Amino acid sequence: MTKCAILGASGHGKVIAEIAELNGFKQIDFFDDRWPQTLQLEHWHIIGDTDSLLSCIQRYDLVFIAIGDNAIRIQKQQELMQAGGHFGVLVHPSAVVSAYSVLDIGTVVMANAVVNPFAEIGKACIVNTAATIDHDCVVADGVHLSPGAHLAGGVKVGTLSWIGIGASVKQLVSIGRNAVVGAGAAVVMNISDNQTVVGVPAKPISRKG
Ligand SMILES: CC(C)(COP(=O)(O)OP(=O)(O)OC[C@H]1O[C@@H](n2cnc3c(N)ncnc32)[C@H](O)[C@@H]1OP(=O)(O)O)[C@@H](O)C(=O)NCCC(=O)NCCS
Repeated sequence: MTKCAILGASGHGKVIAEIAELNGFKQIDFFDDRWPQTLQLEHWHIIGDTDSLLSCIQRYDLVFIAIGDNAIRIQKQQELMQAGGHFGVLVHPSAVVSAYSVLDIGTVVMANAVVNPFAEIGKACIVNTAATIDHDCVVADGVHLSPGAHLAGGVKVGTLSWIGIGASVKQLVSIGRNAVVGAGAAVVMNISDNQTVVGVPAKPISRKG
């Protein structure tokens, strides 16, 4: 296990690259659609765009998508899996992930995050720095749990939803698909598909951005 390709030369990509290195990958190659205008991300090299990666994907032991946008991340992962890319899970060495939890491919668990027993996490999810997912939670594909966000036991989060930094979700609450929970919110009731909520307790708003 030596060669890792990362699509998305962003700040998030830097974090993914370091976690890959900590997991023993010796060669990290970045790909980004800003190539060839951009050739470098810190000390890492950007060696091609998505098409370049598609043409050499089977040379890599691990392919990872480092794109923050949930919908684009999952769409790129599907495209690269169909092209034969080897996807896996990346876990920072300081994270605590229960042996009784299940994490699907393309998901990253960052530093100091905790995933407790019988939690299920789908494909291409981001469990960001110091986020926690308690027992029996079900987190669907393409979800982003931002730094310091907390899901209590038995919470369900639908596909492509984004839980903002420092938000907390009460036990057994269901969050729909493509929902957004604002930074610092306390979610105490179920959230519908496509709804954005903010505040303590969290209430719906219409998104401007
Ligand atoms: C919820 C969120 C997505 C809304 O973004 P937006 O649609 O651009 O909304 P706006 O910034 O225009 O704010 C709309 C209203 O909601 C309020 N609001 C926005 N986010 C809020 C939050 N987290 N808590 C409380 N109120 C919030 C604004 O003050 C504004 O109120 P007003 O209409 O009275 O002026 C965004 O504010 C947020 O919290 N994002 C999460 C960021 C994050 O977690 N980053 C981590 C990345 S790893």
